[in-house]
Amino acid sequence: MSELTGKVAIVTGGSSGIGLATCQRLVKDGAIAVSADLEAPEDSRIKFVKTDVTDQRSLQNLVETVVRQYHQIDILVANAGITEHKAGVADLDVANWQRVIDVDLTGVVLTDKYVVQQMVKQQSGSVINMSSILGVVGAANSQAYSAAKAGVANFTRSQAVTYAPQGIRFNAVAPGYVNTPLLQTLPSDVTDSMVAKMPVGRLAEPSEIASVIAFLASDDASIVTGAVINADGGYTAQ
Ligand SMILES: NC(=O)c1ccc[n+]([C@@H]2O[C@H](COP(=O)([O-])OP(=O)(O)OC[C@H]3O[C@@H](n4cnc5c(N)ncnc54)[C@H](O)[C@@H]3O)[C@@H](O)[C@H]2O)c1
Repeated sequence: MSELTGKVAIVTGGSSGIGLATCQRLVKDGAIAVSADLEAPEDSRIKFVKTDVTDQRSLQNLVETVVRQYHQIDILVANAGITEHKAGVADLDVANWQRVIDVDLTGVVLTDKYVVQQMVKQQSGSVINMSSILGVVGAANSQAYSAAKAGVANFTRSQAVTYAPQGIRFNAVAPGYVNTPLLQTLPSDVTDSMVAKMPVGRLAEPSEIASVIAFLASDDASIVTGAVINADGGYTAQ
């Protein structure tokens, strides 16, 4: 029996790219995977609840629907996101700033809010929030996206400390550049330059990120999660 057999997982943005690969990996490992996305996944093994992560009523409906059907939520992958390629702060497109923050940062926070309410009742659960390399290093023409992804990382550290005593683990993943439809929304010279920045000489595949997420979702990861977060941002395993 696989490590994730019978676990119930919600993956926001689970109908494309990294989220889709994550749903497929979780299903392969024995879990029930629910894609919470604006669009349905083209894979009948994945359950679907139409969800907009910027809409609190939509998120409440998601949690209620999944709990009514499966009675628990063991895993949350708060992955839904959009990107941007915009001029710098002097020419800030304020509407774009707000939209990216709403989806990429507040969307993660609100998804966590409603799912973790259920995990608190269970006194168990594993949350994996989606950050990015662009939340760690600077990149040209990335304003709200970089701020949102850095915000997700430190928000996740704070929640890890807050909820560790209740048996709820929080982790964030911060991938480099990954071969998904998201990159196709960027100018081609930008995507060409991404490959040059990857030490392995190619983009990552979504399945590679999904493997890490599946590990963090599993009880095998509990030795390195729910841990003490050091002041320098590092982890001390417990
Ligand atoms: N592709 C990369 O290089 C890369 C690198 C690091 C981090 N990421 C992050 O990984 C996550 C997934 O990106 P991807 O590359 O797989 O992109 P993608 O465009 O293939 O998938 C994103 C999914 O999110 C969904 N989505 C968008 N807005 C939503 C909303 N308001 N509510 C619900 N669902 C919504 C979309 O419908 C889509 O299915 C994002 O958070 C992204 O920032 C991507």
